[in-house]
Amino acid sequence: MEITSFGPDDAADLQAWAALTNAVAAVDAPWEHPVTAAIGAARFRHGWDGEPSTPYLARVDGTVVGGGAVSVSDYDNLDAAWLGVAVHPDHRRSGHGSEILEAMVGAAHDLGRSSLGADAWESPAAAAFAARHGFVAKQSNINRRQLLADIDWPELDSRYDAALPYAGEYALERWDVPTPDDVLPALAEMASAINDAPLDHLDYEDEVFTDARMRAYEAASAGRNERMYRVVARHVPSGELAGQTVVAVEADHPERGDQHDTSVTRAHRGHRLGLLLKADMMRWLRDAEPQLATIDTWNAESNDHMIGVNEVLGYRVMGREIVYQRSAAG
Ligand SMILES: CC(C)(COP(=O)(O)OP(=O)(O)OC[C@H]1O[C@@H](n2cnc3c(N)ncnc32)[C@H](O)[C@@H]1OP(=O)(O)O)[C@@H](O)C(=O)NCCC(=O)NCCS
Repeated sequence: MEITSFGPDDAADLQAWAALTNAVAAVDAPWEHPVTAAIGAARFRHGWDGEPSTPYLARVDGTVVGGGAVSVSDYDNLDAAWLGVAVHPDHRRSGHGSEILEAMVGAAHDLGRSSLGADAWESPAAAAFAARHGFVAKQSNINRRQLLADIDWPELDSRYDAALPYAGEYALERWDVPTPDDVLPALAEMASAINDAPLDHLDYEDEVFTDARMRAYEAASAGRNERMYRVVARHVPSGELAGQTVVAVEADHPERGDQHDTSVTRAHRGHRLGLLLKADMMRWLRDAEPQLATIDTWNAESNDHMIGVNEVLGYRVMGREIVYQRSAAG
């Protein structure tokens, strides 16, 4: 088997990656939106916030049988590497997954990373494969999808009105990107509230948010050709930022949206700001992106509070992802 890395300028490899990814999804997660070579190019150029992962393709006699990926961050969790392994459905149970994993473990080792993580849609194959290679399930995440045509607007309005009295000292603001430089420090501080989201048994340090990282996050989203919407709650008496929710719309597929962070800082919880932020976001998107059909979101399965808000907004469960970890030593 030949396992080679590729990059955002490798057109033929990006085509092969898209075909592989879509073939895998057709079996393991048929609800996933199909990817394209252009999506891969943007993803592998920009990543989530300026740290793109390195993708690999595995070929036997010139045929792509699978792929892999290694992602590391220099912002935080400096000992961790996140690995991806996927084998084409026509080529499973031939040892290819194990060989790709070994190569990804080697790449992580070369980067000096001692803690390995991997995520996979819940499946008997992934569970058996992970166990066989010494990985332990540490967290369960739920992928929900909101169908905007199904929003019950009168119900949402009445929930919004019922929540407002709890938030008398707060004002909602709709922010455009890029965020002005002088606002970035306050934004970074507020964004770090996402560290309070439940991690279950995941071995994961707090993420470090800086002005530079917030800038890189917005730049990467723009680089992926997304339109970013941010609604912020401000505590009016103090002027403090109390919470935010962010949704990105894919300009190349404008019917698709992705929910990014929703967080309320500790000092400002208990004022129904989560619901108010998300409801205002729905109203904004209804006007600004009338073609938007779906918004995907992710929550740790244990995150009851956020899931409660999502269900009011008409999300439905698409699938469960399991996050596995082990040390590099195995
Ligand atoms: C999980 C996956 C990568 C396995 O790829 P593969 O090439 O079939 O794996 P291998 O042939 O190397 O299997 C190694 C061992 O894993 C276990 N295993 C793999 N698939 C299995 C299945 N469907 N049922 C039971 N055990 C399985 C077996 O112990 C197997 O050894 P064996 O064939 O000698 O019994 C593949 O099913 C896949 O791409 N799934 C979707 C993506 C994914 O879940 N990635 C996992 C990240 S942790």
